[in-house]
This record gives sequence, structure tokens and C-alpha cells, in this order.
Amino acid sequence: MEKQYLRFPKNFLWGAAASAYQVEGNNFNDWSCWEKKNAVKLARSAAKCWSDGQRKQFPETSRQDNYLSRRASDHYRQFEKDFDLAQSLGQNAHRFSVEWSRVEPAMGRFNQEAIAHYQQVVRALRARGLEPFVTLWHFTNPVWISDLGGWENKETVKYFSRYVEKVIAALGADVNFWVTINEPEMYAALAYLKGVWPPQKKSIWRARRVLLNLSRAHREVYQIIHHQFPKARVGAAMNHVYFEGHLSARLADYVWNGYFLNKVKNCQDFIGLNYYFHSRVKGLQYNQNENKEISDLGWEIYPEGIYHLLKKLKKYRKPIYITENGLADAQDKKREKFIKDHLRWVHQAIQEGVDARGYFYWSLLDNFEWEKGFWPRFGLVGINYQTLERTVRPSAFAYAAICRQNGFSL
Ligand code: BGC
Repeated sequence: MEKQYLRFPKNFLWGAAASAYQVEGNNFNDWSCWEKKNAVKLARSAAKCWSDGQRKQFPETSRQDNYLSRRASDHYRQFEKDFDLAQSLGQNAHRFSVEWSRVEPAMGRFNQEAIAHYQQVVRALRARGLEPFVTLWHFTNPVWISDLGGWENKETVKYFSRYVEKVIAALGADVNFWVTINEPEMYAALAYLKGVWPPQKKSIWRARRVLLNLSRAHREVYQIIHHQFPKARVGAAMNHVYFEGHLSARLADYVWNGYFLNKVKNCQDFIGLNYYFHSRVKGLQYNQNENKEISDLGWEIYPEGIYHLLKKLKKYRKPIYITENGLADAQDKKREKFIKDHLRWVHQAIQEGVDARGYFYWSLLDNFEWEKGFWPRFGLVGINYQTLERTVRPSAFAYAAICRQNGFSL
């Protein structure tokens, strides 16, 4: 039988994504303070959180060090080397985030060195033919912002806009794509509803307020960026879950996937889709998934979900970039197939008229996976956290071939 070749549209962007706090190292913000207070507790509760198998395979889960980001992947110092790798792996785009707490460590005091650093980062990307996708907020806040009540406080929108003005003034001329807010719904749910992430609140009202303020922030900075750079492309990156099922699935879809999007839909030039989760809904029960294949984190691998989400997003008539999609797989046994299976469904959606224009694998490097710490390995490139040595995983070469050829055969 003849092999089918999946060719992607001309100028499709191929890259990987990362966030400042997870890779840079040595940040001081609300997360770094929180993890210092909680590392012992997290290590102790690992016994309850993770299965015996996981704890055997990843003994780090019960070590305090696992939960302290410290120098992380040392990307703040080694970004050029890391971008050399991305370039050598055939990528033509890269998504990273600017760390607010570095740029504005105290209220109204802007750190020129940090700003100059991010200018160098953008230049380093451009020099390697990597289109920068710059995220302005990826879960972390300067301590002074959290002291003022974080995103529960409406004033934070004002401070955020002021910080963005500085960033835009410094980087705007060299950046075409801006991601305002990363995963507002995930942040509101984990930090304000479930009480897992700092500031560990558990209130639906607080979560709603935070989401509203994040949507206000998005709309404001959308205008700020366009005012200075009318041609810039601005969007948010949303974590959409494919809810499969009838009434309750539709309701969940409306609340989780629709709430923020509908608040910002008139202020976005593209939609950023982060896809990790599928939830089969039976009656009132969520997550009734088959779980035929799972990642090291126990998350189901369900490539078809990305197709359904893309098809649903078509009605907004905006270009779509898959701003994240990735897998924790320390052995690198499933990653190549994971990427290809998802891309096959992305391609299918494109065939059916979805305007998808880019794919960012999460993540270029192994990194600090928030409250879970270092053990989940998402990287195309592995990091030895003792030596900081980088090792390209075999799946990264397979992805590189796809990036270079702008497609692959089935
Ligand atoms: C987030 C990343 C995170 C990844 C894997 C996304 O929800 O944007 O920060 O590391 O998923 O969990």
C-alpha cells in the first residue's frame, strides 16, 4: 500500500514551548517563596500522591530537593546553547515567557539588566531563524503583587499593564507574536479553587474574580500592544479539555473552555491552544476515560481530542496555534508516537478547514513541573540536574525530521 504523506501548510511554525520559571533558574517570586515553605510537605505527601510504581521509578518524588526549583534547567545562563539545539533540531519558532518578577522586582522599579537579557533572548532566537512567541505571564507573580492580593485584586490589572508597556517598548520591534496570559482557567482552578498552587485558596468566587481580572488584563494589554505595534499578533494560550459526552460534557465545555475565551474573543488575533486532557463524561461523572495509554504522570494519551477541539474553535474564525502539547516520558518510549499521532489529527483538522498555523511541543528541555517538581520529564532534550548536561532524546530527532520536511509520512 502506498504511504500517505501529511504535508502541512506553507510557513507552518514548528517549535517547542517553555516558561521562565520552569527553566531559567534562580527566580524570586511568589512560587519560589511558596515552594521553600512547602517542599518538605510535598515530599512527605508524595507517598499518598504517587503510586508505588511511580515512586520506585522516580525515587525523587519523596526527596525535598525535587520540589525546589533553584537553578532549574539553568536556561537563563544557557539560553544560547539551548537555542542552538532548537535550531539544530529543525525548529523555526520558539515560545518562551518573560518573568515579571525579574523585570519589576519591586513596585515601579524596573530592572534594566533583566530587560536587556530578554532583548538578547529575542535576538538570539532571530539569529537562529526561530520566530519568537513571547508569553507575558505564565503563572508566576512578583512577591509585591502577591502581597497586594495577586490576581484577586483588580489593581493587579493596572500593574500588569504597566509592566507590559515596558516589555513592549523593549522587545516590540522584534516580536510579531505575543501570548498575553497562559492558561487562565488552569491557574484559577489550581490556585483559587482546588487550593493546590499558591496562594492555595479554595473558593469558587475567588476563582471567578481571578479569571475576570485575567481576562481584563488580556483585553488591556491587547490594546496596549496594538497601539504601539498595529501589526503585532496577540492571543492567549488556553488549556482546553476535550469533554466527550452529552449534556454535562457540554456544560463543562462551556464553563472550562468557553468562559475565558468568550470574554476575550473580540480582542485576539489568534487562538493559542494547549492540549493535554480528555475527559469522557458519563452522566455526572467526569474522567471516565479508558486510559489505554498513559504518561509517567498517569495522564491519558488521547490524540483525537485535539482534532475535536480544533474543529470547535473553527467558529471563531481566527488562526490557531497549538501553543502546547506534550508528554512526561522519562524513557522516551512514547514521545515520537505521541507527537505523530497528535499531528495526524491536527493535519486532519486542517484538511477540514481549520486554520492551524503552528505547533509547539511542550517542552524543549526537561523542566520544573510546578508542584510536582523535577521528576516528570517533558523535554525533547533531557537535563541531568546534577551536571546540567543536555542530551537530545531520540524522539527529538524524529520531530526534527517533521519540522524540516514540514510533514511526515504515515
Ligand atoms: C502549563 C505548563 C506545564 C504543562 C505540563 C501546561 O498546563 O502551561 O506550565 O508545565 O502544562 O503540565
